Amino acid sequence: MIKAALLASGQGSNAKALLEKETTLDDVSIELVITDNPHAGVIDIANKFNKPCFIYPRGNSSKNQHETLILETLHNFEIDWVLLAGYMRLLSKDFIKSFYCPNLQQSKILNIHPSLLPLHPGLNAYEKTFKHTPKQAGVTIHYVDSGMDTGKILIQEKFESLSENFEEFKQEGLKLEHRLYTKVLSQLSSIAKEGHI
Ligand code: GRF
Repeated sequence: MIKAALLASGQGSNAKALLEKETTLDDVSIELVITDNPHAGVIDIANKFNKPCFIYPRGNSSKNQHETLILETLHNFEIDWVLLAGYMRLLSKDFIKSFYCPNLQQSKILNIHPSLLPLHPGLNAYEKTFKHTPKQAGVTIHYVDSGMDTGKILIQEKFESLSENFEEFKQEGLKLEHRLYTKVLSQLSSIAKEGHI
């Protein structure tokens, strides 16, 4: 059984999709949600799914103090996979190292990014894609390293939008995000069942 945690800073539509999917899977359990934003929509979502939700604003604490608090919580719940779902902070090398898995040669931390990486890393990827490369729109799920959206790509898919309206374009992308992230969650459940991780 894989024990996963979600880290999110925003509305939480990916978290919702993952929590819905989790209810259909036997070998993965989302144990908790952590957010750095006391106003994040993901808090209500975690409550609806009866998941513990820890709200850790960075406030005046150092990056190291903030991450230590998060790591303590993850270790208390014996979390082995961390799924970033719109988490708006870069994780430090030490944080990432603490989830390193020699078999995978990767840390067990995944992120979803709304572009065809390496195109448009960082903030506002939908906006940049819509404006500059609308024919190359897509979503990427990747392992997390200490760079900005630079980790090894696990899965990537294009979407074609005929809309000239940015909000519609983004909604189409989000739909693909939810489909891809839930597919990855199912795959984690399957490989856990087979005992590969
Ligand atoms: C998504 O577009 C995700 O790819 C990016 O942040 C956004 C989070 O959206 N990393 P939500 O909070 O899951 O709705």
